Amino acid sequence: MRTKVRVIRGVKPGSEEIGQEVEIKGWVRTVREQKQFSFIDVNDGSSLTGMQVLIPSEYPGYNELLPKLTAGASVSVKGTLEESPGGKQAVEIHANHVEVIGTADAASYPLQKKRHTFEFLRSIAHLRPRTNTLGAVARVRNTLAYATHNFFQQKGFLYIQTPIITASDCEGAGELFRVTTMEHDLVPKTDEGLVDYAQDFFGKPAYLTVSGQLNAEIYASALSDVYTFGPTFRAENSNTSRHLAEFWMIEPEMAFADINDDQDLAEDYLKFVLKALLEYNEEDLHFFDKFISNGLVDRLKLVVDENFERVSYTYAVRILEKAPKKFEYPVRWGVDLQSEHERYLAEEYFKKPVILVDYPKEIKAFYMRLNDDDKTVAAMDILVPKIGEIVGGSQREERLSVLEERLASQNLNKEDYWWYLELRKYGTVPHAGFGVGFERLVQFATGMENIRDVIPFPRTPGKAEF
Ligand code: 4AD
Ligand code: MG
Repeated sequence: MRTKVRVIRGVKPGSEEIGQEVEIKGWVRTVREQKQFSFIDVNDGSSLTGMQVLIPSEYPGYNELLPKLTAGASVSVKGTLEESPGGKQAVEIHANHVEVIGTADAASYPLQKKRHTFEFLRSIAHLRPRTNTLGAVARVRNTLAYATHNFFQQKGFLYIQTPIITASDCEGAGELFRVTTMEHDLVPKTDEGLVDYAQDFFGKPAYLTVSGQLNAEIYASALSDVYTFGPTFRAENSNTSRHLAEFWMIEPEMAFADINDDQDLAEDYLKFVLKALLEYNEEDLHFFDKFISNGLVDRLKLVVDENFERVSYTYAVRILEKAPKKFEYPVRWGVDLQSEHERYLAEEYFKKPVILVDYPKEIKAFYMRLNDDDKTVAAMDILVPKIGEIVGGSQREERLSVLEERLASQNLNKEDYWWYLELRKYGTVPHAGFGVGFERLVQFATGMENIRDVIPFPRTPGKAEF
């Protein structure tokens, strides 16, 4: 029976597993031929480091086997587990049966044994998970996703599924992808010459969701604490290292909660998932620390151990106005912060995660709760070093009349939000929630420069292959 490499690597020298028969399956990373025997390194993705397999030259058919054992070939190996005299690994397998399942032509295999640029690796997204970095990213994503469910489940939040196709623009930013079955050149028109959406699949304009929040609010208004974790889509034409057109978002929503509860939950959440990562993905994190971002592990430990800074938007603007640094975009009260400002605050000024609260109402979405000053809303963003915004959330406006005024002032149609307004009419409660950009979290946790390298198949302007 096959055992995963991660399990075998955990075997300690001197334990009773030594000398036992084992079987592994995986892909050959490297081959080292020597006179008496050859070593192959087999990786099955269960851990960063693969398993060293020794094939003695007396192995029957040795000379026919070796040419087929090239980087990229898939193999099944049976043999005995032995203590390894080499310093790099505690145990190795001495093979007595090696089967090449699928060969890989050595001359054309795109993953040669040298450092490839991440840009090149994006062009072979079907093979890049076989590299150390992308494999480690996948394991980190898995742990963070698993820990996300653990965190909310332990706190009694219900996991709900919100729709991917929607008719509403939650963020009101107009960055929507349309969903239609109409043919581009055969779009039916009304008598006024406008697109006749009545003839479209849903009978009205439909889009890919930018956020599951509005639907999560419905369920929080019945089940108290809920969360969604799904794909979201934004047609922002920003070619940056922190934006994707398709990304995953974790969105908790709590009834009977205010902006302070919201901040507490978000801080607890980030600490919890990073702590789980430090425990479970030690080897991967040390790899990122060594090759991608020096000091990463210590920085993550600091995030887990120290309180986040909490300041108001107004206070942060004052800091930025006095900053010795020259910003590309000038700051004054009322402007939306750019990532250079967010990064200055987290990276240089506070040197740790910062929660900014109470933003000017003009720059935030219609659903955020108006503060008593009539100028700001109970919004919060969490900013972290190197990334900037990683979490965006708020207390929601639960007062019907105030919400109606907010919709009107943002030129949004009351009729489109009739069900959202009814939640305020029937048993309204103070409630709050936030959205965590999952890929930004993975970027932060790994130190990876570009968001396109922390999602298996990135979708960005002009790119949708694989
Ligand atoms: O701040 P945002 O727009 O907030 C919302 O969508 C709220 N409805 C969430 C809520 O309260 N339930 O997005 C939330 C987070 C951001 O902080 C950022 O981390 C991430 O989503 N994000 C993106 N990540 C990758 N690519 C993009 N284009 C992103 N846009 C936002
Ligand atoms: Mg935001």
